[in-house]
Amino acid sequence: MKCNKLVDTGRRQFLRGGVLGAAGVAAGAVLPASQAKAQARAMVDYPSNRLANLADLTLNEPMDITYPDAESPGVLLKLGTRVEGGAGPDGDVVAFSVLCPHKGYNMSYHAADKTLNCPGHFSRFDCEAGGQQVWGHATQNLPQFSLRIDDAGDIFAEGADELIYGRLSNVL
Ligand code: FES
Repeated sequence: MKCNKLVDTGRRQFLRGGVLGAAGVAAGAVLPASQAKAQARAMVDYPSNRLANLADLTLNEPMDITYPDAESPGVLLKLGTRVEGGAGPDGDVVAFSVLCPHKGYNMSYHAADKTLNCPGHFSRFDCEAGGQQVWGHATQNLPQFSLRIDDAGDIFAEGADELIYGRLSNVL
């Protein structure tokens, strides 16, 4: 009898958790993407790191960077067309982590279709679409670093919109 009560209590708590979890998912689902990204960023105190100057970039050629620390490799790109999350006067400067969200392989840039490609299990991520996965095994899109460019053309990274592979928090 006592045991049955415990089972029943446990079941009710599980169901309550499920309802609350579903409510949370539903609430998250109706948030506009920009608000969801702002909320995610609000959880972490990101550093503002200078990556390069606009004059250092060559059209459609990747520049190696690290952000938010030296253990997190990334790439800085001038794509040549205005894109989601793009910074600078042409809205075409973007930065991404190059650690594949699937299992952390180091990815390389393919200039012909402006994707980052994984040598591990061949996932591909679209740099013109905010790092959206176009094929592969990962369960999230590629972390994109938010950029600010000052009057002198210096480019600063100041946040990330997804969890970087292998981390419980983007800022350690
Ligand atoms: Fe990149 Fe598996 S590690 S697809």
